[in-house]
Amino acid sequence: MRALEPRVTEIVTSRIDAMLATGGEADLVSAFALPVPSLVICELLGVPYADRAEFQRVTDVLSFDTPPERFRARMDEFADYLRGLITRKRARPGDDLLSRLIAQNGVSDVEVVNIARLLLVAGHHTTTNMFSLGTFALLHDPGQVDHLREHPDQIAAAVEELLRYLSIIQLSIVRVTTEPVELGGIQVPAGTTVVIAQAEVNRDPTHWADRPGELHLDRPHAPHLAFGHGVHQCIGQQLARVEMSIGFTQLFTRLPGLRLAVPASRIPLRTDTGIYGVDSLPIAWDAA
Ligand code: HEM
Repeated sequence: MRALEPRVTEIVTSRIDAMLATGGEADLVSAFALPVPSLVICELLGVPYADRAEFQRVTDVLSFDTPPERFRARMDEFADYLRGLITRKRARPGDDLLSRLIAQNGVSDVEVVNIARLLLVAGHHTTTNMFSLGTFALLHDPGQVDHLREHPDQIAAAVEELLRYLSIIQLSIVRVTTEPVELGGIQVPAGTTVVIAQAEVNRDPTHWADRPGELHLDRPHAPHLAFGHGVHQCIGQQLARVEMSIGFTQLFTRLPGLRLAVPASRIPLRTDTGIYGVDSLPIAWDAA
């Protein structure tokens, strides 16, 4: 993931350049939070530049209000596209994940297609909502923005605190007990499905003694569950950290006077889907 950092920086820089070029207002979600993760996944997989507009068209349907038939149809188109790309990569491999998967013995084309689809679905809206909800939370609290601008070297800690505080995926850690367990005084028999509420754990006052319900970017490091736990914890977490460190740093240093363009109360929060967030975030900055 460290090797991808320069490309992530270029992607973020070019999105911010485009925002600056359009004036002093934008919807952060469509101008930045949606395209950055999608372009980063293109980079990871090795999607050629000429195909990127088409790739982003496919990602349009990843929003939660897409009707299931439309979602399935677009995912089928995406699988067709990937099969074509696999053929091209087999003929001319690159330094990318698809080429490496294809070169592995025993990995079928169906598996390569499914891995690529999984990475897109799991890695896109998660990072998008961290950017949009994270920016919303920070703009609510000027003290935190000052901290971010004054301590750019502490961005990694700031990202961990945003992950903990926002806990955008609240109920995705699902496990089955393999033996009877006692949890909080309750006996859970073997073979029971257990759904862990990350938002609760990430704000547990016995673990986070100091104001767990508040955002403090200088909070001392402690493990959180925003990326899950154990062998199935998020495989994309280091990439997400790279994206967020570079993305938040540039958003808050390159857009002077960054602020919400409408009162916070007019920004509806999405509360009926598996990933918490906002569908749009009107922002403004001091245009040159
Ligand atoms: C900030 C952004 C992200 C958040 C908050 C997030 C969160 C999560 C969580 C909570 C899980 C479940 C972990 C568990 O069951 O213990 C998960 C799994 C997963 N994530 Fe992420 N994720 C993010 C970004 C990404 C990215 C960028 C990718 C890939 C490019 C990705 C790929 C995956 C995959 C493939 C899994 C399934 C892993 C498995 O079951 O073994 N995620 N993620």
